[in-house]
Amino acid sequence: MEAENGDLLRPLTLKQYHISEDYGFVLREPLEDLPPYYQPWMEIAKNVTELIYSHSLRTRVHEMPLLETELLQDHRELRLAHLALSIITMGYVWQEGESDTVKVLPRNLAVPYWCVSNKLGLPPILTHADAVLANWKRKDHPHSEINMENLELLFTLPGGTSVHGFFMVTLLVELAAVPGIKAIPQAINGVNQGDVTTVTEALKSISLALDDMVEALKLMHDYVEPSVFYGIMRIYLSGWKDNPSMADGLVYEGVQEEPLEYSGGSAAQSSLLHCFDELLGVKHQGSSGAFLMRMRSHYMLPAHTHFVQHISRCRPSLRDFVLEQGDEALDSAYKHCVARLVAMRNYHINLVARFITQPASRAKKLRLSGVDADEENSAITQAPSALETRGTGGSGIMSFLKTVRDRTRALSDSPSAQPIGAEGAQRHSTVGVPKKAPAEASFLSWLTSKIWSQ
Ligand code: HEM
Repeated sequence: MEAENGDLLRPLTLKQYHISEDYGFVLREPLEDLPPYYQPWMEIAKNVTELIYSHSLRTRVHEMPLLETELLQDHRELRLAHLALSIITMGYVWQEGESDTVKVLPRNLAVPYWCVSNKLGLPPILTHADAVLANWKRKDHPHSEINMENLELLFTLPGGTSVHGFFMVTLLVELAAVPGIKAIPQAINGVNQGDVTTVTEALKSISLALDDMVEALKLMHDYVEPSVFYGIMRIYLSGWKDNPSMADGLVYEGVQEEPLEYSGGSAAQSSLLHCFDELLGVKHQGSSGAFLMRMRSHYMLPAHTHFVQHISRCRPSLRDFVLEQGDEALDSAYKHCVARLVAMRNYHINLVARFITQPASRAKKLRLSGVDADEENSAITQAPSALETRGTGGSGIMSFLKTVRDRTRALSDSPSAQPIGAEGAQRHSTVGVPKKAPAEASFLSWLTSKIWSQ
């Protein structure tokens, strides 16, 4: 399924990468139960929160039978099994907080988890593909509208209604993006056919989808309590890579003796912005680029990774096409789309400030003052100090997010304005002088940016 050169010559479809026209990357109607043989997993996964609060999850896991995975054949069964085992694993590791973590994931959990992960091509840790894309059901009949009131989680973790809010609002962001995802093949096929109107329309659809994604993001304020997110929920999403409280990683017993390191769940693992970045020509570099590339290569479903790779390999790229055409409407649709992507990233940065930076500084002040926290602040004082400045995916949060935003913004003055490094320069060297200089950029500035890029 990996994007071969031959694939790049045929019209691109979503179907070829198992992406739904209606649900995008979201798993269509996830299964709610596994065959009866797997009840021991399901019973524990369904009750993880209570088992964590009663400090008995680890004991229950030790008593769990070692089950075979051969009965799991269907994709949706495997997704449910991965989700259930991921939820159990996050609870097992973090049951006692950051001060009493474990070094070993026991064989009866680690071995089947490893097998299921291999079958799916996902890592053996909770990912965005589990917690968001496959962790939902409608409360009522199968074709009813999807909204916050009508959605339920299959599995939850400590944090009460904020957990529902966090995963379900993220799901709504994924669904809001669907018209934009559908416009990607339209844009790419349009470029290949030299069809300026089709590409312009596709870019407009993506801009609208980005605005709808921001509207969905806004719901986070209504459904998630920052102190609960910061103080209670985040630890259960965090991993054992770049995490001082699990500095040695985790041994998956019965799989291999050496400890393994995996990043925690993060929407940086969502394919959405990876697709839009590749389509528009945003190039992330340095440590931010490496982090995003790691998320793309190891923490997404392989079909989704291959879709992103397909977009990145298309020649001519959409950006080169915009440059070459010098069409005013196309140029303006492109710039508008980049601006909407910047706006989405700006909104996200504000969200991170409210849900992480502000509670972190309150927690620090409380710690230094030695004063007992009131009811409102008691949750944030429980927060793991290792996550004060790091995301659950392990990134150094604000500098990472701002670098990523700035790389996007650098494209917005003109399609040719982004200073690009070796990778970009190589791509660019194949581009000749545009038929017409881009509408709002003088030929001189176009030339200057070319010199920049060499
Ligand atoms: C309360 C809500 C949220 C918070 C606190 C939050 C926090 C973070 C943090 C800390 C990172 C840095 C990577 C890491 O180490 O995990 C990140 C990255 C990212 N998040 Fe969020 N996030 C939130 C909601 C969302 C939602 C709903 C989406 C949409 C799907 C999203 C999309 C992204 C993306 C795409 C990145 C990678 C950076 C980029 O491409 O701009 N986030 N987020």
